[in-house]
This record gives sequence, C-alpha cells and structure tokens, in this order.
Amino acid sequence: MSGTVDITQDAGVLTLLMNRPDKKNALTDAMYGAMASAMEQAEADPAVRVVAIRGAGDLFCAGNDIGDFLNASNRVGEANVFRFIRLLGSFTKPLLVGVQGRAVGIGTTMLLHCDHVVLAEDAKLSTPFVNLGLVPEAASSLLLPAAIGHQRAFAMLAMGEVMEAQEALAAGLANTVVPNDELDDAVAKAALRFSALPPGAVQATKALMRDPGLVAAKMEAEIELFAQRLQSAEAREAFTAFMEKREPDFSKF
Ligand code: COA
Repeated sequence: MSGTVDITQDAGVLTLLMNRPDKKNALTDAMYGAMASAMEQAEADPAVRVVAIRGAGDLFCAGNDIGDFLNASNRVGEANVFRFIRLLGSFTKPLLVGVQGRAVGIGTTMLLHCDHVVLAEDAKLSTPFVNLGLVPEAASSLLLPAAIGHQRAFAMLAMGEVMEAQEALAAGLANTVVPNDELDDAVAKAALRFSALPPGAVQATKALMRDPGLVAAKMEAEIELFAQRLQSAEAREAFTAFMEKREPDFSKF
C-alpha cells in the first residue's frame, strides 16, 4: 500500500513525517511500523533529544487507514498500530507535534502523549470512534477526560464532535496556536529549545508527570475491546460505508 513515513534527524531532533497526502496521511500498518521502529531507535540513541511528529500536506492525519480496519484479523492486538500506541505511552524523551488541518482518531489521541503541542489556526481535532462502531484507543478514554473533563471528552469520544484549534488551546490540549505559515518555524523553535535542555532532568521530569503503568493498563483494556469491536457488524457497516462513500446505516442494529 502507498504511503511512507519520512524520518530525518537534525542535531538532536528526530522528525517523523507522515507522508501520504493523497490519502490524507491515513496510517497503514507499515507506516505505524516505521514510526514505532524509529521511536525505539530514538529511545536507545543518546544523540536524539526530542522527537517531533508532523504530517505532510494540508492535513495532519486522517487516522487509521479504514481499508486496513476492514482487513483486520483477529490477531489485531499484535498489529503495528498497537506497537506504536504502546510506545507513545512509554516514551521517555520529549515528544512534540505540529498539527495543521484535520487530526482524526489517532491523529488526535497521539497528541495526548505529546509534551508540546503546536496547532495551526485551521487545526481541527476529532475522535469519531463511536461513529465507526469502535471504542477509544491510546488511553484516550483516560487521558482526554482527565485533560478536559468528562462531558467535553464524551462529546468528542462518543459523539465525534470536532474541536477547533482555539477551543483546544483554551481546553488545555495545546501550548499554542499559530498562523499556518508559521507552523514549521514554531515546531522547529520548540524542538531546538527541548534539545538544548539537560536530557536526564527532562526525562526524569516527564517520568514524574506521567504514570506509564496506569496508561498501559487503560491501553490494554481498550485494545481488547477495540479488537472485538473491529469485527462487529456495526463497525463493518461503518467501514464499508466509508469505502463506498455513503452514510452508514445503524438502524438495523
Ligand atoms: N482511511 C482510508 N482512506 C482515507 C482515510 C482513512 N482514514 N481518510 C481519507 N482517506 C482517503 C479517501 O477515501 C480519499 O480517497 P480517494 O481519493 O481514493 O477517494 C482520500 O483519502 C481523500 O479523502 P477525502 O475524504 O476526499 O478528503 P477530505 O479533505 O474531503 O476529508 C477527512 C478529509 C479526514 C475529513 C475525511 O477523509 C475523513 O473523514 N476520513 C476518515 C477519518 C476517519 O474516520 N478515520 C478513522 C478514525 S478512527
């Protein structure tokens, strides 16, 4: 399947660029695998001080490839998506992200694991898991309500409501909102600031601020349900409807 993740390193900054703009950077198993492997190497390489996640084109990420969802096997728990998700939860170095346009599904839930979030003015965050017959992932059922409160998190996780950049900033999901043409610069400047900090102190501080055990336990509970939901008739209807470019019909369930 087409689509790549471009991995570049400049001094202490490793950048993972989701680069599949014709499919709105929808993530395939191979792309998750590339990101996970790069993060594992980054974790082990003292020269990497910070990892930045970006998306090519007009839109950050349209979430998981829905065709891959349709083809998912019963052994989905072993898929690279969950390898990537588990790494997000355990990553010890600073993670930063720059988001333009839509960030859907994991495109939004990965932000909850980032230590610095820069949004372009047109950024729009959404997590339409229930609309797809699914449940939240990446510990978002824990981290999103903790960040913005149950009701607003429910509106996003269960109702698929879209949150615009300024609202996300006000809700505490981002550090800053910048004009679109300043996003690259803002991310690069933040990355340079992180990479100049004493790495041991940064990592110890991140470790104090996060509870990887709690996050991991929630992720595993989500993965079990998510794998079941992927095979459900509700989810199959939602995926098929997307591929056929029609509205799903849940009236029969
Ligand atoms: N999986 C597979 N293909 C996807 C995709 C996804 N998650 N998101 C977009 N694409 C494909 C479209 O099918 C389309 O392919 P085509 O050109 O072969 O027809 C192409 O990318 C462009 O998408 P399009 O919907 O025309 O772009 P848009 O700018 O009008 O809308 C989105 C962008 C992100 C709002 C819309 O594509 C969308 O809702 N995608 C699905 C998001 C989603 O539900 N993700 C899963 C979350 S768990």
